[in-house]
Amino acid sequence: MNKTFELKTGEKIIIRHLSKSDIEGVWNNFNEVVEEGIYLPVFFPVRSRLEKDSWYRKIKNEKEICIIAENKGLNPPYNIIGQCEISHSEWDAGSHVGILGIIVKNKYRDLGIGSKLIDTAIRESKKLNNKEKIILSCFSTNERALHLYRKLGFKEVGIRKKQFLMDSKYYDEVLMELWIEDYLNQDK
Ligand SMILES: CC(C)(COP(=O)(O)OP(=O)(O)OC[C@H]1O[C@@H](n2cnc3c(N)ncnc32)[C@H](O)[C@@H]1OP(=O)(O)O)[C@@H](O)C(=O)NCCC(=O)NCCS
Repeated sequence: MNKTFELKTGEKIIIRHLSKSDIEGVWNNFNEVVEEGIYLPVFFPVRSRLEKDSWYRKIKNEKEICIIAENKGLNPPYNIIGQCEISHSEWDAGSHVGILGIIVKNKYRDLGIGSKLIDTAIRESKKLNNKEKIILSCFSTNERALHLYRKLGFKEVGIRKKQFLMDSKYYDEVLMELWIEDYLNQDK
């Protein structure tokens, strides 16, 4: 699976599955968002080679979905400008459920890349892993992410009040879900 599209800036972007050579780029993006300090409930960047490689091995061994947005005009690791993962539920009885996480590099936000990454990840997780439902969670202050999830059809199913405490500030966690069949039927 390889899809190409052009940003309004003229840059050519490829949407595809994760490769081993993307590991550094993906983790750079993750660490940048950790440093932004307002989107993820994580305090420390990931620097360990072992941790980065074992994340990659888990995705490939367990056949989880990780879709990458690559800017062909840039050299690695800066060519990886976004990523969307759909991992398996930890429960035996939850194998029809995928858990979504997404990051787009700051400079490339609001250009439609997040939307394309999620669309591809959802379709691939149905095709390859037989997923039926996608779940995610998000800080209630993350207006851009909430707008995007709602636009794609995710429904709010709950709020965990003051679930995270960062820099002496509490954040509510919004829980959302999407039935893939409903999502695909929107096209018809
Ligand atoms: C959330 C994220 C993945 C979205 O990716 P993206 O490439 O910017 O997404 P898109 O460009 O497809 O869509 C963004 C939408 O949000 C809208 N938007 C931007 N800022 C907004 C705001 N403050 N309030 C409401 N909507 C906003 C944009 O206009 C666009 O909507 P439109 O297509 O209807 O015009 C990306 O911004 C990101 O990585 N953020 C930091 C990490 C993060 O929050 N990850 C998710 C954790 S739950």
